[in-house]
Amino acid sequence: MRRGGEASPGSAADRSANHMALSEKSASVSEKTGPQLETNLAESHRRAMRRLAATVTIITIKSEFGNLAMVATAVSSLSLAPPSILACINQAASIYSHLQPEARFAINFLGAVHHGVALQCAGAASHQDRFAAGRWLSHDGVPYLADAQATLFSRVDKLISYGSHGIVIGNVFDVLISGDPDPLIYVNGIYGRVTNIDQ
Ligand SMILES: Cc1cc2nc3c(=O)[nH]c(=O)nc-3n(C[C@H](O)[C@H](O)[C@H](O)COP(=O)(O)O)c2cc1C
Repeated sequence: MRRGGEASPGSAADRSANHMALSEKSASVSEKTGPQLETNLAESHRRAMRRLAATVTIITIKSEFGNLAMVATAVSSLSLAPPSILACINQAASIYSHLQPEARFAINFLGAVHHGVALQCAGAASHQDRFAAGRWLSHDGVPYLADAQATLFSRVDKLISYGSHGIVIGNVFDVLISGDPDPLIYVNGIYGRVTNIDQ
């Protein structure tokens, strides 16, 4: 599929023309309609990210105002040595100011059965009400979802501010695992679960 330019496909000039088209305008490709050039990079980035499926997590922490919880999908394994995880959190989120170095928090990986818990924690509910769905316990003062697929108890090691968000690097100090893997997935604005397409 060509994205413009007069050079022959595969030539250096063609590659250069395509590079220019992508860097200047951003392109998206629809299976049905073929490539569509988009001029609004932020909007095409948002649309692209809707296709990055992710496990739904709830980040929890104890604060002087009570327990706080927020849904997050921008969560990734960082390293096994040391066991660490990162989360990208909007600096406007109420949990953000509590994620200070050394603060202990938990990242609860949700299962498909926790769809209702995710909805409760993702909406406009108060933080107190966010804990109304699901069974919540406390580990050394850190709130966690009792039957989460996994819970990583972590200490904030580093905070990196980047644009509207902050990258929180957590040093994992305890792990709980529950049940068989059946993660709650968020993709294209909807919740779902994984279907096995292997034999
Ligand atoms: C499925 C889903 C995934 C989300 N992922 C993130 C995320 O990774 N980082 C983030 O900062 N906000 C994320 N949000 C938005 C926060 O959950 C929401 O803005 C936050 O709870 C609101 O902050 P508050 O606690 O101050 O009300 C996500 C929301 C949903 C519904």
